[in-house]
Amino acid sequence: METTLIFLKPDAVQRGLIGSIVGRFEAKGLTFVGMKLMNVPKDLAEKHYAEHQGKPFYDGLIAFVTSSPVFVMAIRGVNAVAVCRTLIGATNGQKADPGTIRGDFGMSGGYNMIHGSDSLESAERELALWFDDGELATIDKTLDQWVY
Ligand code: TYD
Ligand code: MG
Repeated sequence: METTLIFLKPDAVQRGLIGSIVGRFEAKGLTFVGMKLMNVPKDLAEKHYAEHQGKPFYDGLIAFVTSSPVFVMAIRGVNAVAVCRTLIGATNGQKADPGTIRGDFGMSGGYNMIHGSDSLESAERELALWFDDGELATIDKTLDQWVY
């Protein structure tokens, strides 16, 4: 089992896409262990996107994700990091495959609706940034035997 950090960016929230996007992860068979709507403090955005500091899009990215609430999720499942990245699709909505979230809902490379951790190491680092100790739910999912 892996747990990954996903958040819906301000464009997805303001466009009214929370339900449509969350429904895809739920229908896939993944398990939610954390969910919250929040405004993003600038220092959290900077820590989260530290790997991109200095790149031409960095300042705009920080301004964007701190501009309006995001919807944050911790999502658990077998191979959850890679499965969620597959559901999300390529970074630019114009290039993302149909059937992916970015491919189906977006046309932008910057306003691309959703973040998903790109590796297990990133997921662990990002979960610790976005959720406090003890904030994630524990759940006994007997039905997982039918999901897998
Ligand atoms: P990145 O980690 O490369 O993409 P992903 O979200 O698919 O893991 O980049 C982080 C975010 O930075 C990306 O979701 C949108 C923004 N971004 C731009 O605005 N322009 C760009 O050219 C790139 C590469 C990213
Ligand atoms: Mg990334």
